[in-house]
Parts: sequence; structure tokens; C-alpha cells
Amino acid sequence: MKNDYFYVTTPIYYVNDKPHIGHAYSTIIADSIARFKRLSGYKVFFLTGTDEHGLKIEKEAVSRGINPKELADSVHIKFKELFTELGISYDRFIRTTDEDHVKTVTSAFEKMSANGDIYLAGYEGWYCTPCETFLTEKSLEGGGRCPQCGRPVSKVKEETYYLKLKKYEKRILDYIENNPEFIKPDFRRNEVLSFVKEGLEDLSISRTSFRWGIPVPGNEKHVIYVWFDALLNYLTGIGYEDFLNGKNPDFERFSKSANHVVGKDILRFHAVYWPSMLFSLGLEPPKIVTAHGWWLQGGRKMSKSLGNVVDPVSLIKKFGPDPLRFYLLSEITLGLDGDFNADNFITRYNSGLANDLGNLISRTAAMLNKYTGGNIPGSVSAGEDDEVLKTVRRILKNIDRRYDDYDFAKILEDIFGFINIANKYINDSAPWKLNMDDLEQKKNLLKILRTVTISIYYISYLIYPFMPETSKKINAILNIPPFDAPGFSAAPEDIAALCGKLFKDGFRIAEKIEIMFPKIKPEE
Ligand code: MSP
Repeated sequence: MKNDYFYVTTPIYYVNDKPHIGHAYSTIIADSIARFKRLSGYKVFFLTGTDEHGLKIEKEAVSRGINPKELADSVHIKFKELFTELGISYDRFIRTTDEDHVKTVTSAFEKMSANGDIYLAGYEGWYCTPCETFLTEKSLEGGGRCPQCGRPVSKVKEETYYLKLKKYEKRILDYIENNPEFIKPDFRRNEVLSFVKEGLEDLSISRTSFRWGIPVPGNEKHVIYVWFDALLNYLTGIGYEDFLNGKNPDFERFSKSANHVVGKDILRFHAVYWPSMLFSLGLEPPKIVTAHGWWLQGGRKMSKSLGNVVDPVSLIKKFGPDPLRFYLLSEITLGLDGDFNADNFITRYNSGLANDLGNLISRTAAMLNKYTGGNIPGSVSAGEDDEVLKTVRRILKNIDRRYDDYDFAKILEDIFGFINIANKYINDSAPWKLNMDDLEQKKNLLKILRTVTISIYYISYLIYPFMPETSKKINAILNIPPFDAPGFSAAPEDIAALCGKLFKDGFRIAEKIEIMFPKIKPEE
């Protein structure tokens, strides 16, 4: 077990409406990295959940004729259900209405206030309710629209508490400049840098014109601004209250290792406002903030108000979770936008999953059953084809770095490249032409069978973070426990030794072989 800590989070999702593909995407990214790190032996904490306060939720509840808590109670379940269907391995699903979170927000506000970082003054400006963002006059787009979502903004004139962001400007700038890994991808890092260099304004962190939020301690006329409340979920999730009481020795190790996965629209909150809040609390900024792009439909961001959302639940019901996980992670390079296209989904499923991966497994299992009665030939009697295996060894060698770069599309490209090599190896060596009664040919046949079987083992290991259900099915065929079996971990550098120990002479595959990834006909 590595003694390293790894804390990964998704954004917490607004409960004004049920989840769509965009929300599934942030969560699948975080899940894949959490699974990889856990498998490699890290102490992982994976947090996701729902953002339940604020004007946007209050308005939606009013329009449905219910109170905001009732809305949150019903919608947060939709997220939980989706995450269960998607196989999301979170350690906690946090809700901002949870009691410990309300306590965290209250004590954080008090602490920042005591540090002299919060003051009361007047605010006059603009507010975009769908984005829950304060906007200056000069940032508005033509016709008084929000520069982020293009929707009309409202005028706000009220008393508000401010957080002294300006005070932390220099520290933020230094942190970004001294830690090139902090904001990913690089082009986003440059955007944030120029934003900070233009100069920061103090941030309004309370509202008085509605009630649905956590009250400001000592002045209940104000509710705390939803983003101030929401960002603190990252501290609640790993036990901030216990930490304050000296009862949480792991807290700082997790908080220092924080990896926040976010969409590009909310990067500034995580890369500028959040570190300032942490500085004010005497804590360190997160280690990494990774901003992914958007899923589009017809060239526009998928969103409820545009009516162009793709429902992940119907896709999972039809094809299971893994094809969707595979498609979302392999189709676009992290950071860029991509168009969700049903034809493309089907093409990728049929070629990558049905033809290449599914076929490799079923033909290998069929050959083992036919030629050796299901026995996996041992390395001493059969040998292994290094020419084939060297490709996968190279992938394993580079994999840590690729994960550090969040380069999932490339990892999957490498894995599927190797799947093609294994299939080609079978085609070229044509084991069905070999004669089991000829000693030399038999030896060759056993070598081919062993090589492809352990190739499949490596493939199962490599795809586990992306397609855990498929990996589990492959392991069931190989007659070994799944990679998330309790207590199991194996770093990429250890997996070859493990493979050698596992598949010795006399080891048999399972008798029942399940067909994976039946082909989709385009009319489906
Ligand atoms: N509640 C805030 C986040 C607070 S985190 C402390 C929020 N919620 S959200 O529900 O609007 O969005 C959550 C995440 O979903 C964001 O990372 C956002 O980028 C992502 N997506 C929402 N629509 C999306 C697409 N169409 N495509 C990809 N992801 C997008 O913001």
C-alpha cells in the first residue's frame, strides 16, 4: 500500500433539474482517476454531490409550487441514481444542506471574519441567476446579457459582505506561476493568469433579497452567497469540523492532494476564488484544477434551457454504463469541446468494443476451450511472445504520467491500439492451422494462447478505471477476482510480476463465457 493520499472531487451539481451527459462527464472523469489511483495503492477519497442553495434553486422551486428543500430532496436522488447506474465509486455524496456542511460554512465565515478578511458594504451591479455570478457593467454583452451563458441579467442593489480577494492577488499569482501543474490544460492556465493580472476585485459573498441559503452568522438578514457555500463542500467532505477539533489527522494530507475536476465555465471559481478562501483559512490551495470542455449538441452547449440535452439514463439502460463511459472519455481530448453524435457513438461501439475488444476475448476463450480444455498454458511450458507484449509493457510504463496529464483519450487510444495488435497477432499466426500432434507446432500454439491470454489480463487491468464492469466480466472469464476486490491493489510496475504468479500451468478459465458488446444495428 502506497502511503500517498489522493483527493479527487467533481463539481457539486445544481438541483434545479435532472442530470444530463455534461454532468455525467465531469463525474466519469473523476471516477476513472479515482479508480486508477485506488488500484495503484493510493489512499483515495472521492467526493461528489449536489449544490442545493441559492436563488436559482429557490426560483425553480417556486415555479414548481414546492419549497426548495423538497426540490433538492427529489432531484438529488436523480443524481445518485445516475451515479449508481454509471458505476461511480464515490466515497461520499455530499449535499450542501447536510448538517456538517452548514457547520463548516458557518465556521469558515467566522474564521475569515476574525482574520479581518470580510467586511460589510454596499453592492450595486448585475447578477446572472442561471450562472449564480455577480457581473460588472463593463463585462456584459450586447443588450445586457451574461458573457458566460448569454441570458439576460438582473440589476442588484443591496448591502453585502465582501471577501478581501485583492489582499490575496499576489499570493494567487505566485502560486499559479510557481506551480505549472496547478491549472490544466495549459491554455486555460494562461487565461486564468491574464485574468488575475488584470487585478482582482473583492468578492461579494452574501445576499439579502431572498432566503434560501445558509444565514450569515450574527446577521441573519443575509444569506451566504451560493458559490462561497458550494466551494467549502471540498472541506466538509474530508471532515473539516473534526480537523478543527483536532480529531482528523488525515485532513491536511487529503486537502493538499486535492484534484478538482471542473468544467471550463467554473474554472475561475476554483483557480482564483477558492485558493483565496483557503489562504484566508490558513490552508494550502488545491494541487490541481483540471478544466474539461463542454458536450455540445448541434454546436451549442447542452443545457436544459436550450432543450438540447442527451439523457444518459436511456443510453445506459440500452447499452450498459461502459459504452457511455468509453465514448465520453475517448471521443474528445480533455479540455476541448465535443459534439455528442449518436451515429458516432454507434460507430465507436461497433468498431472499438464489439469488433476489437469483444472479439479478442471471445475468440481467445473459444481457442482455449478448443485446444487446451480451458487451461491457460504456463510460462515455462509455453513461453511468451515478447514482440507482442513489449507494446503493453511500454503503455504500463507511461501510464502514471498520462494520468497525471489527464490524457484519457490518449490512454484509450494506446489500449485500443494494443487490442488491435493482439487481434492481428492471432490473425497472422493462425493458430487454427497448427497441428497439436506435432511437438514444435504444439509448442507454438501454446505460446500464442498464453500470449493472448495474458494480453487480455493486461487489457483488463488497463481498462478497469474506464470500464469497470467490462473489466470485471473479463476477470470472471479469466477466473480471477475483479480489480476492485477488497484489499487488492497493484501498481502498473507490479502487474507483470503478478500476472506471472497468477497464470501458472493448470490454471483454468471459467466454463461459462458471456458475450460482451453485441453489435448495434444502426436503426436501433
Ligand atoms: N453548482 C456549480 C458547481 C459548484 S462546485 C463547488 C455548478 N453546477 S452545474 O450543475 O451547473 O454544473 C456542474 C458541472 O457540469 C460543471 O463542471 C459544468 O461544466 C458541467 N457541465 C454542465 N453542462 C455541461 C456540458 N454541456 N458539457 C460538459 N460539462 C458541462 O456549476
